Amino acid sequence: MTKKGKVVPISEAQMQLGQQVKGLRPGEPVVLQRHGKPVAGLVSVEDLQNLQRAERGTSVLMAFNHAGGAAKTSTIRDLGYELAQLGYRVLLLDIDPQANLTNWLGVLDAPVERSLQPVLEDYAPLPEPYPVHGMDLIPSHLSLARTDARLPGYTNAEGRLRAAIEQVRGQGTYDFVLIDPPPSLGKLTANAANAADWVIVPVPARYKGIVALEGLREMLGEYTRTNPGLRVAMYLVTQMENTAHSKESHEVFQQVLGDQLAGPLTYRPAMYNRCQPEGQPIGVNAPDSDARREIQGVVAALLQRIGRKAE
Ligand SMILES: Nc1ncnc2c1ncn2[C@@H]1O[C@H](COP(=O)(O)OP(=O)(O)OP(=O)(O)O)[C@@H](O)[C@H]1O
Ligand SMILES: [Mg+2]
Repeated sequence: MTKKGKVVPISEAQMQLGQQVKGLRPGEPVVLQRHGKPVAGLVSVEDLQNLQRAERGTSVLMAFNHAGGAAKTSTIRDLGYELAQLGYRVLLLDIDPQANLTNWLGVLDAPVERSLQPVLEDYAPLPEPYPVHGMDLIPSHLSLARTDARLPGYTNAEGRLRAAIEQVRGQGTYDFVLIDPPPSLGKLTANAANAADWVIVPVPARYKGIVALEGLREMLGEYTRTNPGLRVAMYLVTQMENTAHSKESHEVFQQVLGDQLAGPLTYRPAMYNRCQPEGQPIGVNAPDSDARREIQGVVAALLQRIGRKAE
Protein backbone atom coordinates (compact mmCIF):
# COMPACT_ATOMS: atom_id res chain seq x y z
CA MET A 1 0.00 0.00 0.00
CA THR A 2 1.62 3.23 -1.00
CA LYS A 3 -1.30 5.49 -0.12
CA LYS A 4 -3.20 5.66 3.18
CA GLY A 5 -6.95 5.43 3.44
CA LYS A 6 -9.61 4.80 6.05
CA VAL A 7 -9.65 1.10 6.94
CA VAL A 8 -13.07 -0.56 6.74
CA PRO A 9 -13.43 -4.26 7.67
CA ILE A 10 -15.30 -5.84 4.77
CA SER A 11 -18.03 -7.53 6.84
CA GLU A 12 -18.94 -4.15 8.29
CA ALA A 13 -18.60 -2.55 4.89
CA GLN A 14 -21.17 -4.95 3.55
CA MET A 15 -23.50 -4.62 6.51
CA GLN A 16 -23.33 -0.93 7.28
CA LEU A 17 -21.71 0.93 4.45
CA GLY A 18 -24.01 3.88 4.93
CA GLN A 19 -22.56 4.35 8.43
CA GLN A 20 -18.99 3.61 7.40
CA VAL A 21 -18.78 6.17 4.64
CA LYS A 22 -20.44 8.90 6.68
CA GLY A 23 -17.94 11.65 7.34
CA LEU A 24 -15.76 10.70 4.37
CA ARG A 25 -15.39 13.08 1.47
CA PRO A 26 -16.31 11.87 -2.03
CA GLY A 27 -13.22 10.38 -3.68
CA GLU A 28 -11.44 9.82 -0.35
CA PRO A 29 -9.59 6.48 -0.44
CA VAL A 30 -10.82 3.56 1.67
CA VAL A 31 -9.06 0.23 2.29
CA LEU A 32 -11.36 -2.77 2.58
CA GLN A 33 -10.06 -5.36 5.04
CA ARG A 34 -11.15 -8.92 5.66
CA HIS A 35 -9.79 -10.69 8.80
CA GLY A 36 -7.34 -7.83 9.27
CA LYS A 37 -5.85 -8.08 5.75
CA PRO A 38 -6.45 -5.58 2.94
CA VAL A 39 -8.54 -7.24 0.23
CA ALA A 40 -9.55 -4.48 -2.12
CA GLY A 41 -6.75 -1.96 -2.13
CA LEU A 42 -7.87 1.63 -2.34
CA VAL A 43 -11.40 2.29 -3.41
CA SER A 44 -13.36 5.53 -3.55
CA VAL A 45 -16.44 6.34 -1.54
CA GLU A 46 -18.39 6.15 -4.80
CA ASP A 47 -17.09 2.61 -5.32
CA LEU A 48 -18.24 1.70 -1.83
CA GLN A 49 -21.67 3.10 -2.49
CA ASN A 50 -21.85 1.12 -5.72
CA LEU A 51 -20.83 -1.99 -3.80
CA GLN A 52 -23.58 -1.28 -1.30
CA ARG A 53 -26.11 -0.96 -4.09
CA ALA A 54 -24.87 -4.12 -5.82
CA GLU A 55 -25.27 -5.97 -2.52
CA ARG A 56 -28.90 -4.94 -2.39
CA GLY A 57 -29.53 -6.05 -5.96
CA THR A 58 -32.24 -4.97 -8.35
CA SER A 59 -35.87 -4.75 -7.24
CA VAL A 60 -38.35 -5.29 -10.08
CA LEU A 61 -41.78 -3.76 -9.48
CA MET A 62 -44.87 -3.61 -11.63
CA ALA A 63 -48.11 -1.69 -11.34
CA PHE A 64 -51.06 -4.02 -11.65
CA ASN A 65 -54.75 -3.42 -12.09
CA HIS A 66 -56.48 -4.81 -15.14
CA ALA A 67 -59.15 -2.13 -14.77
CA GLY A 68 -58.41 0.91 -16.90
CA GLY A 69 -57.65 4.30 -15.40
CA ALA A 70 -56.58 3.12 -11.91
CA ALA A 71 -53.43 5.34 -12.09
CA LYS A 72 -50.91 2.61 -12.96
CA THR A 73 -48.98 4.83 -15.34
CA SER A 74 -49.10 7.94 -13.12
CA THR A 75 -47.86 5.82 -10.20
CA ILE A 76 -44.92 4.32 -12.11
CA ARG A 77 -43.93 7.75 -13.47
CA ASP A 78 -44.06 9.56 -10.14
CA LEU A 79 -42.66 6.85 -7.87
CA GLY A 80 -39.87 6.25 -10.39
CA TYR A 81 -38.96 9.91 -10.40
CA GLU A 82 -38.86 10.18 -6.62
CA LEU A 83 -36.76 7.01 -6.31
CA ALA A 84 -34.29 8.51 -8.79
CA GLN A 85 -34.23 11.72 -6.75
CA LEU A 86 -33.25 9.66 -3.71
CA GLY A 87 -30.19 8.45 -5.63
CA TYR A 88 -31.48 5.10 -6.85
CA ARG A 89 -30.79 4.05 -10.44
CA VAL A 90 -34.19 3.55 -12.03
CA LEU A 91 -35.19 1.84 -15.28
CA LEU A 92 -38.78 2.28 -16.49
CA LEU A 93 -40.26 -0.29 -18.87
CA ASP A 94 -43.35 0.76 -20.82
CA ILE A 95 -45.02 -2.45 -21.95
CA ASP A 96 -48.41 -0.86 -22.71
CA PRO A 97 -49.12 -0.33 -26.44
CA GLN A 98 -50.95 2.89 -25.46
CA ALA A 99 -47.47 4.26 -24.64
CA ASN A 100 -48.84 6.68 -22.03
CA LEU A 101 -45.78 6.45 -19.81
CA THR A 102 -43.54 7.05 -22.81
CA ASN A 103 -45.49 10.08 -24.01
CA TRP A 104 -45.98 11.50 -20.52
CA LEU A 105 -42.20 11.53 -20.12
CA GLY A 106 -41.81 13.50 -23.33
CA VAL A 107 -40.71 10.68 -25.68
CA LEU A 108 -42.96 10.96 -28.72
CA ASP A 109 -41.23 9.38 -31.70
CA ALA A 110 -39.39 6.29 -30.44
CA PRO A 111 -38.85 3.66 -33.13
CA VAL A 112 -40.09 0.13 -32.54
CA GLU A 113 -36.50 -1.19 -32.28
CA ARG A 114 -36.06 0.84 -29.09
CA SER A 115 -39.21 -0.72 -27.56
CA LEU A 116 -39.63 -4.12 -25.89
CA GLN A 117 -40.85 -5.69 -29.12
CA PRO A 118 -37.46 -7.25 -30.11
CA VAL A 119 -37.09 -8.49 -26.53
CA LEU A 120 -40.49 -10.18 -26.57
CA GLU A 121 -40.44 -11.49 -30.12
CA ASP A 122 -36.75 -12.35 -30.66
CA TYR A 123 -35.20 -12.71 -27.19
CA ALA A 124 -33.09 -9.61 -27.89
CA PRO A 125 -31.40 -8.00 -24.88
CA LEU A 126 -33.01 -4.81 -23.56
CA PRO A 127 -32.46 -1.99 -26.07
CA GLU A 128 -30.64 1.23 -25.23
CA PRO A 129 -32.91 3.29 -22.99
CA TYR A 130 -33.85 6.97 -23.26
CA PRO A 131 -32.68 9.22 -20.41
CA VAL A 132 -35.69 11.00 -18.86
CA HIS A 133 -35.61 13.19 -15.73
CA GLY A 134 -32.77 11.21 -14.14
CA MET A 135 -34.31 7.84 -15.04
CA ASP A 136 -33.86 5.46 -17.98
CA LEU A 137 -36.89 4.57 -20.07
CA ILE A 138 -37.50 1.82 -22.59
CA PRO A 139 -40.41 3.29 -24.50
CA SER A 140 -43.45 1.55 -25.86
CA HIS A 141 -44.75 1.42 -29.41
CA LEU A 142 -48.22 0.76 -30.79
CA SER A 143 -46.95 -2.38 -32.48
CA LEU A 144 -46.69 -4.04 -29.05
CA ALA A 145 -50.42 -4.65 -29.55
CA ARG A 146 -49.50 -6.98 -32.44
CA THR A 147 -46.84 -8.59 -30.25
CA ASP A 148 -49.52 -9.27 -27.62
CA ALA A 149 -51.63 -11.02 -30.25
CA ARG A 150 -48.68 -13.03 -31.62
CA LEU A 151 -47.15 -14.12 -28.32
CA PRO A 152 -49.59 -17.01 -27.62
CA GLY A 153 -48.14 -18.78 -30.66
CA TYR A 154 -44.58 -18.55 -29.32
CA THR A 155 -42.75 -20.81 -26.88
CA ASN A 156 -42.25 -19.40 -23.37
CA ALA A 157 -44.78 -16.70 -24.28
CA GLU A 158 -44.95 -15.36 -20.73
CA GLY A 159 -41.29 -15.59 -19.71
CA ARG A 160 -39.51 -13.55 -22.35
CA LEU A 161 -39.28 -10.25 -20.47
CA ARG A 162 -37.98 -12.07 -17.43
CA ALA A 163 -35.08 -13.47 -19.47
CA ALA A 164 -33.99 -9.94 -20.48
CA ILE A 165 -34.46 -8.52 -16.99
CA GLU A 166 -32.38 -11.31 -15.45
CA GLN A 167 -29.48 -10.21 -17.66
CA VAL A 168 -29.79 -6.64 -16.37
CA ARG A 169 -30.12 -7.91 -12.81
CA GLY A 170 -26.89 -9.85 -13.23
CA GLN A 171 -25.10 -6.70 -14.39
CA GLY A 172 -26.33 -4.75 -11.34
CA THR A 173 -27.00 -1.67 -13.47
CA TYR A 174 -30.22 -0.64 -11.73
CA ASP A 175 -31.60 -0.51 -8.22
CA PHE A 176 -35.17 -0.45 -9.49
CA VAL A 177 -36.89 -1.67 -12.64
CA LEU A 178 -40.48 -0.39 -12.77
CA ILE A 179 -42.89 -1.90 -15.30
CA ASP A 180 -46.07 -0.22 -16.57
CA PRO A 181 -48.38 -2.84 -18.11
CA PRO A 182 -51.59 -2.32 -20.09
CA PRO A 183 -55.08 -2.57 -18.55
CA SER A 184 -55.60 -6.14 -19.73
CA LEU A 185 -54.77 -9.70 -18.75
CA GLY A 186 -52.96 -10.64 -21.95
CA LYS A 187 -49.43 -11.85 -22.53
CA LEU A 188 -47.83 -8.42 -22.07
CA THR A 189 -49.13 -8.19 -18.50
CA ALA A 190 -48.22 -11.85 -17.90
CA ASN A 191 -44.64 -11.11 -19.02
CA ALA A 192 -44.47 -8.27 -16.51
CA ALA A 193 -45.90 -10.46 -13.73
CA ASN A 194 -43.36 -13.20 -14.46
CA ALA A 195 -40.47 -10.75 -14.33
CA ALA A 196 -41.49 -8.81 -11.21
CA ASP A 197 -40.59 -9.27 -7.55
CA TRP A 198 -43.23 -6.85 -6.29
CA VAL A 199 -46.63 -5.58 -7.32
CA ILE A 200 -48.04 -2.15 -6.57
CA VAL A 201 -51.80 -2.20 -6.97
CA PRO A 202 -53.28 1.25 -7.55
CA VAL A 203 -56.95 1.33 -6.57
CA PRO A 204 -59.12 4.38 -7.26
CA ALA A 205 -61.10 5.59 -4.24
CA ARG A 206 -64.50 4.78 -5.66
CA TYR A 207 -66.99 1.94 -6.00
CA LYS A 208 -65.29 0.68 -9.16
CA GLY A 209 -62.07 0.21 -7.17
CA ILE A 210 -63.82 -1.88 -4.54
CA VAL A 211 -65.57 -4.09 -7.10
CA ALA A 212 -62.24 -4.78 -8.81
CA LEU A 213 -60.59 -6.09 -5.61
CA GLU A 214 -61.74 -9.70 -5.82
CA GLY A 215 -60.69 -10.07 -9.44
CA LEU A 216 -57.34 -8.49 -8.61
CA ARG A 217 -56.65 -10.98 -5.85
CA GLU A 218 -57.65 -13.87 -8.08
CA MET A 219 -55.32 -12.75 -10.87
CA LEU A 220 -52.45 -12.12 -8.46
CA GLY A 221 -52.97 -15.67 -7.20
CA GLU A 222 -52.73 -16.93 -10.79
CA TYR A 223 -49.50 -15.04 -11.45
CA THR A 224 -48.00 -16.35 -8.23
CA ARG A 225 -48.38 -19.90 -9.55
CA THR A 226 -45.82 -19.25 -12.27
CA ASN A 227 -43.80 -16.68 -10.30
CA PRO A 228 -43.90 -17.77 -6.63
CA GLY A 229 -41.58 -14.90 -5.67
CA LEU A 230 -44.16 -12.30 -6.66
CA ARG A 231 -45.46 -10.32 -3.68
CA VAL A 232 -47.80 -7.38 -3.20
CA ALA A 233 -45.83 -4.38 -1.93
CA MET A 234 -48.90 -2.22 -1.43
CA TYR A 235 -52.40 -1.36 -2.50
CA LEU A 236 -52.18 2.35 -3.24
CA VAL A 237 -55.38 4.37 -3.01
CA THR A 238 -55.47 6.92 -5.82
CA GLN A 239 -57.75 9.70 -7.01
CA MET A 240 -59.18 10.37 -3.55
CA GLU A 241 -61.88 13.00 -3.81
CA ASN A 242 -63.34 15.17 -1.09
CA THR A 243 -66.69 13.38 -1.31
CA ALA A 244 -68.61 11.05 0.98
CA HIS A 245 -68.39 8.34 -1.68
CA SER A 246 -64.60 8.55 -1.91
CA LYS A 247 -64.22 8.57 1.88
CA GLU A 248 -66.54 5.56 2.27
CA SER A 249 -64.57 3.70 -0.41
CA HIS A 250 -61.34 4.48 1.45
CA GLU A 251 -62.82 3.12 4.66
CA VAL A 252 -63.76 -0.11 2.92
CA PHE A 253 -60.19 -0.44 1.63
CA GLN A 254 -58.86 0.12 5.16
CA GLN A 255 -61.11 -2.61 6.54
CA VAL A 256 -60.35 -5.12 3.80
CA LEU A 257 -56.68 -4.43 3.18
CA GLY A 258 -55.39 -3.21 6.56
CA ASP A 259 -51.69 -2.45 6.57
CA GLN A 260 -51.28 -3.42 2.93
CA LEU A 261 -52.85 -0.05 2.14
CA ALA A 262 -50.87 3.07 1.22
CA GLY A 263 -51.80 6.61 0.24
CA PRO A 264 -54.27 8.03 -0.48
CA LEU A 265 -53.18 10.21 -3.37
CA THR A 266 -55.61 13.10 -3.74
CA TYR A 267 -57.62 13.67 -6.93
CA ARG A 268 -56.03 16.71 -8.61
CA PRO A 269 -57.22 16.78 -12.21
CA ALA A 270 -55.70 20.14 -13.15
CA MET A 271 -52.23 19.11 -12.04
CA TYR A 272 -52.33 15.61 -13.51
CA ASN A 273 -53.69 16.85 -16.83
CA ARG A 274 -51.10 19.61 -17.02
CA CYS A 275 -47.99 17.55 -16.46
CA GLN A 276 -48.78 14.98 -19.18
CA PRO A 277 -48.42 17.22 -22.28
CA GLU A 278 -45.45 18.87 -20.57
CA GLY A 279 -43.74 15.46 -20.39
CA GLN A 280 -43.01 15.79 -16.67
CA PRO A 281 -43.57 13.78 -13.49
CA ILE A 282 -45.45 15.61 -10.72
CA GLY A 283 -42.14 16.06 -8.88
CA VAL A 284 -40.74 18.10 -11.79
CA ASN A 285 -43.94 19.94 -12.69
CA ALA A 286 -44.86 20.88 -9.13
CA PRO A 287 -41.72 20.37 -7.02
CA ASP A 288 -43.06 22.18 -3.97
CA SER A 289 -46.60 20.83 -3.86
CA ASP A 290 -48.76 18.77 -1.54
CA ALA A 291 -49.23 16.37 -4.45
CA ARG A 292 -45.50 15.69 -4.51
CA ARG A 293 -45.28 15.34 -0.74
CA GLU A 294 -48.00 12.69 -0.86
CA ILE A 295 -46.01 10.78 -3.50
CA GLN A 296 -42.82 11.06 -1.44
CA GLY A 297 -44.72 9.61 1.53
CA VAL A 298 -45.74 6.66 -0.63
CA VAL A 299 -42.12 6.13 -1.72
CA ALA A 300 -40.96 6.09 1.92
CA ALA A 301 -43.66 3.50 2.73
CA LEU A 302 -42.69 1.47 -0.33
CA LEU A 303 -39.01 1.36 0.67
CA GLN A 304 -40.03 0.13 4.12
CA ARG A 305 -42.36 -2.54 2.77
CA ILE A 306 -39.83 -4.00 0.38
CA GLY A 307 -37.00 -3.81 2.88
CA ARG A 308 -34.94 -1.07 1.25
CA LYS A 309 -34.21 2.17 3.03
CA ALA A 310 -33.71 5.59 1.45
CA GLU A 311 -29.99 6.18 0.75
N1 LIG B 1 -54.40 11.75 -8.39
C1 LIG B 1 -54.99 12.04 -9.56
N2 LIG B 1 -55.72 13.15 -9.72
C2 LIG B 1 -56.33 13.44 -10.89
N3 LIG B 1 -56.25 12.67 -11.96
C3 LIG B 1 -55.53 11.54 -11.87
C4 LIG B 1 -54.86 11.15 -10.68
N4 LIG B 1 -54.23 9.99 -10.90
C5 LIG B 1 -54.48 9.66 -12.17
N5 LIG B 1 -55.26 10.58 -12.76
C6 LIG B 1 -55.78 10.59 -14.12
O1 LIG B 1 -56.55 9.44 -14.33
C7 LIG B 1 -56.35 8.97 -15.65
C8 LIG B 1 -55.86 7.52 -15.55
O2 LIG B 1 -54.59 7.52 -14.96
P1 LIG B 1 -53.45 6.55 -15.51
O3 LIG B 1 -53.39 6.65 -16.99
O4 LIG B 1 -52.24 6.79 -14.70
O5 LIG B 1 -54.12 5.15 -15.13
P2 LIG B 1 -53.79 3.73 -15.77
O6 LIG B 1 -54.22 2.73 -14.76
O7 LIG B 1 -52.38 3.68 -16.20
O8 LIG B 1 -54.72 3.73 -17.04
P3 LIG B 1 -54.72 2.61 -18.20
O9 LIG B 1 -55.46 1.47 -17.60
O10 LIG B 1 -55.41 3.26 -19.34
O11 LIG B 1 -53.31 2.27 -18.48
C9 LIG B 1 -55.32 9.88 -16.32
O12 LIG B 1 -56.00 10.81 -17.11
C10 LIG B 1 -54.66 10.58 -15.14
O13 LIG B 1 -54.29 11.89 -15.46
MG1 LIG C 1 -51.59 3.15 -18.04
